[in-house]
Amino acid sequence: MVYKALKKVSFLKGLVQKDIGQILSIAKHKKFKAGEIIFHKSEIGNHFFIVKSGKIKIFTFLGPEKKKTFAFLSRGDMFGEMSLLGGKTRSASAQAIENTELLVISKKNFRDLIMSNPDFTFKLLNTVVERLNKANKEIESMLFHNILGRLADSIIELSKNNHSTPVCLKIDQNELAECVGTTRVPVCRAINILKRSKTIEYKRGELKIMDMQRLKSIAGSGNN
Ligand code: CMP
Repeated sequence: MVYKALKKVSFLKGLVQKDIGQILSIAKHKKFKAGEIIFHKSEIGNHFFIVKSGKIKIFTFLGPEKKKTFAFLSRGDMFGEMSLLGGKTRSASAQAIENTELLVISKKNFRDLIMSNPDFTFKLLNTVVERLNKANKEIESMLFHNILGRLADSIIELSKNNHSTPVCLKIDQNELAECVGTTRVPVCRAINILKRSKTIEYKRGELKIMDMQRLKSIAGSGNN
């Protein structure tokens, strides 16, 4: 049952039953309540995690008031590998934002898995490279865009696995500000600009993308 559920999802998709069986045999299952912190940035890393169900936020604080969300992770996504692969301490904090169940693998078992299972290792590298590419894009965006362009980038990124038409995201202004890496007031101003140009509709935490082309051109223009 767990195998069936897991083989369909991103990080584990493509691994054969034997590989997923090996992962399940060494993993502990752990539940976290919505809002619970899984670990804090700068702690020593001792475990690797795969999301079995629920939703995780990976984030850091930028000063006392600003947070930056690096990623939202859901079923089948993995995290916690960086500190186990040389970083030693956690590069960011992780928090359950829904009731969540994780597969938890110890540092030793994670290392054994890497050494003994090339398919797993290839998948892991694949995911790390995807994240590095995304982070590079975000650095470009931060260097070249003002808040409006960065907000457009974040909305496009958040819409990636959303197949509704028009794309509809449930996200409040604080969460959007954390994705952009700023505070609520400038994001609120940028939202109003996107609303006035009919690029998005935004009401009570529900954001609809009404003109994806325009949103992409705002994200890509670099001087808005
Ligand atoms: P680790 O440094 O052990 O703990 C924090 C984890 O967050 C890190 O491993 C990665 O698994 C994950 N992480 C860090 N930065 C990002 C990012 N930019 N995108 C997605 N996940 C990340």
